[in-house]
Amino acid sequence: MSGESIHYIDPQHIGIIMDGNGRWAKQRGHSRPRGHKEGAQATRKIIDACQELGIRYLTLYAFSAENWSRPDIEVKALMELLEFFLSRETKTLIKRRVRLHAIGRIEELPNSAQRALKKAMAATEEFDDWHLTLALNYSSRNEVLDAAKAFAQAISSGETSPETRDWADFAKHLYTSKIPDPDLIIRTSGETRISNFLLMQSAYSEFYFTDTLWPDFDKAQLEKAIACYHKRERRFGKTGEQIAQPTA
Ligand code: FPP
Repeated sequence: MSGESIHYIDPQHIGIIMDGNGRWAKQRGHSRPRGHKEGAQATRKIIDACQELGIRYLTLYAFSAENWSRPDIEVKALMELLEFFLSRETKTLIKRRVRLHAIGRIEELPNSAQRALKKAMAATEEFDDWHLTLALNYSSRNEVLDAAKAFAQAISSGETSPETRDWADFAKHLYTSKIPDPDLIIRTSGETRISNFLLMQSAYSEFYFTDTLWPDFDKAQLEKAIACYHKRERRFGKTGEQIAQPTA
């Protein structure tokens, strides 16, 4: 019985590893930057779709700390695309009352990208119903390292007890301290790995992998992922019986 139980609560937070722009471009004889441009179009549509489907938190892996090792021309194109995306999309985010956040070592991004990000985040900071988080120069391992340093500092200043064994005392130093953990993580393009994305936050996330390349991922695909999520039984360490009868 427990294995068949279905829960209909929609995911509150979806994280997406947007993969496959390069292959999408190659299949069509285009340059990789062209693939990223198409990927940005898909990103716009998915932000809208999430709102239409009532997903309050969306976190997108837009540039990993490891992506700096790509050819200079591609890195440059991705940074320019980010600035272009922010300059075009901020108006839409405001109209839709979406708050923009960024996670990662933002201070290492080019100055112009940092300025564009800060401007967009400031313009949307009053909103609280919808949250879009861009993971930029993001690495989960770096995040843990940065949090560990801040945690040690909090202990030495007396802000946190050295006796604590409470995860929440550590988690408040993660970049994501103000957003809930993801319920569902989607990766496109057929790859089935997590690639240093939200490792701590995905401890109890459900995962959905699709062969669809990111530029082709659309609202119908998102609905398919959510339908699959609905069939999962999230137990959080409990038994299936406890989940079926929460008061037992
Ligand atoms: C991975 O595909 C994708 C990225 C490294 C960049 C993601 C960027 C976008 C989707 C567009 C821009 C988004 C914003 C928010 C501006 P890949 O290049 O690794 O594809 P491949 O594995 O097929 O080569």
